[in-house]
Amino acid sequence: MERIIKASSNEGDLVADFFCGSGTTCAVAEKLGRKWIGTDLGKFGIHTTRKRMINLQRQLKIEKKPYRAFEILNLGKYERQHFIGVNASLRQQEQHAQLEAKEKDFLNLIIHAYKAEAVESFTTFQAKKAGRLVAIGQVNLPVSRLFVEEIINECRQKHITRADVLGFEFEMGLVPHIQEEAKQKGIDLALKYIPRDVFDKRAIEKNQVVFHDVSYIEVKPHVQESKQSTKIAVELTDFSVFYSQDASEHRQELRAGKSKVIVDQGRVIKLAKDKDGEITRTVLTESWTDWIDYWSVDFDYESKQEVIRIQDPATGEWEERWTGDYIFENEWQSFRTKKDRSLELKSVYKEVEPKKRYKVAVKVVDIFGNDTMNVIEIGA
Ligand SMILES: C[S@@+](CC[C@H](N)C(=O)[O-])C[C@H]1O[C@@H](n2cnc3c(N)ncnc32)[C@H](O)[C@@H]1O
Repeated sequence: MERIIKASSNEGDLVADFFCGSGTTCAVAEKLGRKWIGTDLGKFGIHTTRKRMINLQRQLKIEKKPYRAFEILNLGKYERQHFIGVNASLRQQEQHAQLEAKEKDFLNLIIHAYKAEAVESFTTFQAKKAGRLVAIGQVNLPVSRLFVEEIINECRQKHITRADVLGFEFEMGLVPHIQEEAKQKGIDLALKYIPRDVFDKRAIEKNQVVFHDVSYIEVKPHVQESKQSTKIAVELTDFSVFYSQDASEHRQELRAGKSKVIVDQGRVIKLAKDKDGEITRTVLTESWTDWIDYWSVDFDYESKQEVIRIQDPATGEWEERWTGDYIFENEWQSFRTKKDRSLELKSVYKEVEPKKRYKVAVKVVDIFGNDTMNVIEIGA
């Protein structure tokens, strides 16, 4: 990469790798004083590149060499929007019919990917799988508390004791309280993410689409106050996932001499099959911290609003609009690497204005590359 980049660009030029994978091109470009752009459609590619670039920044800092800041941007929910987009030039009635057909296609796609069977005659459920009823959240909205409460109500009325709720996003703070609430009413409720690759036909055919359970983060605030300054920090105190995946469906696929990581009864287990077909099991997640690959903190989450630019189709004019969300700014992070498996559980202290409340956001990326966020309030 070094030879290619040196031969085809000068210092300060922009180097791009649109299939950046683990980020080798970006790292070499950074070391050689080039600006860079890396893109990848896989979340692991982006996550690995992120960790690699932070490590490189740290190394360049120690060597007193210059390094650049970088941003990670998400193209958005374009696959989802595309999926339910209707032809705006159709008449209202036709638009309505098209939307209805598309929503039906969407449900069928999810049911197929989840290997469930469609059911009718329920209000909140669209499918069933292995003795559990399945409710599917809307394609363009996070699953809300209200939505889950309706599901719980239907369960109570119809004596349903086991249910799964699938969604692309979930209202923050829903897990684990909503499950405890359901449990008290005798309902075993599982909340699962619809993975982005459900839109990828090849991934479905290859059996690679996994619906991971929604997890939750517990954090403890720390405040240091003196006459001169106020400082805040956060400590991770718990991270829980209710990963449930049936070990048996995977065991058959395991070939001799190979190993595989699976989830069984909420624990991550490495299954290895030796040449004689003997299977050994090693538990990889002994403690809750073993689930975490990376975590980061934004000490003032509401300081940067997420603003998008929208073009008015009639006038062609651009307008800036706040989406109602905020941009997570990575102000501090700790992560594991292949070489260094340790993880800090308490952030650094950050100096803040005294007598002010701060919304601190904590984001955890687990060992499967799923991220979860929690926002807590710290301060006066
Ligand atoms: C072999 S890796 C690339 C390695 C990298 N270019 C380097 O030099 O180190 C290929 C990457 O392409 C990504 N990829 C495949 N199809 C893609 C697409 N249509 N758009 C973006 N990335 C894609 C994969 O996720 C994978 O991470």
